[in-house]
Amino acid sequence: MKILVIGKGGREHALALAASKSDLCETLYAAPGNPGMAEIATLVAIDDGKVNQLADFAENEGIDLTIVGPENALADGIVDEFQARGLKIFGPTQAAAQVESSKDFAKGLMKKHNIPTAGYQTFTDYDKAAAYVKEHGAPIVIKENGLKAGKGVTVAMSEDQALEALKVAFDLPDNSVVIEDYLEGFEFSLIALVNADRVYPLECAQDHKQVGDGDTGPNTGGMGSYSPVKKITPELVEETMETIMKPMAKALVEEGCPFTGFLYGGLMVTDKGVQVIEFNARFGDPEAEVILCRLESDFVQAILDVMDGKEPKLAWTDQVSHGVVLASDGYPASSTKGAVIEGVEKVDGLVYHMGTKLDDGALKTNGGRVLMVVTLADKLEEAMAKTYEEIKKVDCEKLFYRKDIGRKDLENGEE
Ligand code: AMP
Ligand code: GLY
Repeated sequence: MKILVIGKGGREHALALAASKSDLCETLYAAPGNPGMAEIATLVAIDDGKVNQLADFAENEGIDLTIVGPENALADGIVDEFQARGLKIFGPTQAAAQVESSKDFAKGLMKKHNIPTAGYQTFTDYDKAAAYVKEHGAPIVIKENGLKAGKGVTVAMSEDQALEALKVAFDLPDNSVVIEDYLEGFEFSLIALVNADRVYPLECAQDHKQVGDGDTGPNTGGMGSYSPVKKITPELVEETMETIMKPMAKALVEEGCPFTGFLYGGLMVTDKGVQVIEFNARFGDPEAEVILCRLESDFVQAILDVMDGKEPKLAWTDQVSHGVVLASDGYPASSTKGAVIEGVEKVDGLVYHMGTKLDDGALKTNGGRVLMVVTLADKLEEAMAKTYEEIKKVDCEKLFYRKDIGRKDLENGEE
């Protein structure tokens, strides 16, 4: 088969790597891809936002299956365009992708279908939003509507912080915010392969959203992760499937926009059971990097089976994967570009490219999150030690990383 992966980040590198291992994969393309993906795929110089050009390429090249990575392409309707041209593509339509592109849509659907999530209200002007914050007090969560690469959320521990976040949000034109009750508990990510009302969970992962050690500082796209999460027992996965993932898939069918693709549940185990923090319409990043490297069965076959209405065969290694993101100084507020990176080839583990470019043969930083180093071992503690040993081999003076990915959970009994 000829397979095309859309996107250029670490998630897409992980999707491409999993696809490249499939017996079904004869030729692999990535558009636009990145220098890491160039080692396993032919790069196509079309940006992931250029829906029509991508469809032209798939048509002309006779691509048999396209796998979409990023949310912006989904929100722009890439799946609708491919389907209109009779091209096979794994991802949700623009309407179904609203589970991520519109927080208001997602929250409304959860409320209507009794899917457990934090109480909320949507606001389109500062004064009413500020009055609501003053009435409810902190902690409280402010979420800007629309796609913000994981950065439009403020978990405000004080009223002042909440009001500040509202000011920033309403400084932007035509913005609206969702204000949510604060949920306390243990967070995890569950990604499922979905086709209409059929939902098949992958293994869970634990992301680390905040930029600083000890979960401090602003939220980011994610600074590191590991999989599996032992604390998320089969019973908790079952509860999540029955009360959240399957009901959401069914709700989307009932709303007339059935979902196909990776449905991402950002979840919190609270004392009232598992609750939804957010849904995403695509694989997580940095979850894909630690989940897909543990898949032992054929990834492409699993996608084809799901698309054909069959149950996919999913087999996982018992090993634990652990990964740490290297980000450019200043991320997430700002970021530098163009710093030379050396030593990547010395790493004994997986190195996913999240934001790199080749410049005159030299590998350089190209944005916020730059690389992710992932290792596998029998226990989380061993994998952690290994990742932190290997990451030292990456030499770049403009990169930083969290030193504690997985540590808090190890201290709380994770193995
Ligand atoms: P989101 O982009 O919606 O996933 O939010 C980013 C991060 O903010 C989440 O991963 C949580 O750590 C935190 N968060 C979001 N919503 C809530 C909430 N209602 N209560 C507590 N923390 C939250
Ligand atoms: N890691 C969180 C996300 O992909 O949204």
